Amino acid sequence: MIEKRLIITVDGPAGSGKSTVSKILAERISYMYLDTGLLYRAVAYAAMQRGISVEDDEALRKLCEGINIPFETDNGNMKVLIDGEDVSDSVRTEEIGMLASSVSAVSAVRDTLLQPQRNAGRYGGIVAEGRDMGTVVFPDADIKFFLDADPDERARRRYAQLMENGVNVDLSAIKRGLEARDYQDTQREVAPLKPAGDSVIIDTTGIDVDRVIEKMTIMVEKHARKVGS
Ligand code: DC
Repeated sequence: MIEKRLIITVDGPAGSGKSTVSKILAERISYMYLDTGLLYRAVAYAAMQRGISVEDDEALRKLCEGINIPFETDNGNMKVLIDGEDVSDSVRTEEIGMLASSVSAVSAVRDTLLQPQRNAGRYGGIVAEGRDMGTVVFPDADIKFFLDADPDERARRRYAQLMENGVNVDLSAIKRGLEARDYQDTQREVAPLKPAGDSVIIDTTGIDVDRVIEKMTIMVEKHARKVGS
């Protein structure tokens, strides 16, 4: 058990394994798990429901002014509400992932979500997962991880995950979708996906989840000892 309430960030592209390992790591050390992609997905969902185009920055800005996106962690699972409705499951589609990537390039959207994310980490004891956790949201985090993997393996993982959930998909379409999302997420002007200068980069290609978590846990424990937990 790690007594000190550290802030641990995990960034990386879609399919790098960051959600799986972040969730398990948080559970293992009794920390809160913050899935920030879910928040961007919720904004995309709200825009879609209101017929707002993800290309329309001004309409997205207005949407953000009037929207409240409460979220909570319930037993290690994050839940997000839009208009009082729990949309956590309905937003986990590839289509919403792509829309989320588009809305996340709009500064007004990022500005709106910044403070709630920081608030979630104000007492530490958090594993925060996303694209800009170590660079923008928690630049002073105690430990920063950046997970990456070969694009083919990322596509295969996503494919397997979707098939397991009963969603029938085409592997090459998944790969094209991931490439498009990678491009948008890394090339945008605001808070692009990139490793923080002080992050530990882990290439998860060909490495199973348990090994990655073990590696991360060792680093976290080492750090906690160093700062006197
Ligand atoms: O992690 P995810 O696949 O649920 O994220 C969906 C999209 O949201 C992702 O393609 C880019 C955006 N996102 C972001 O810009 N910043 C974050 N911290 C998390 C997600």
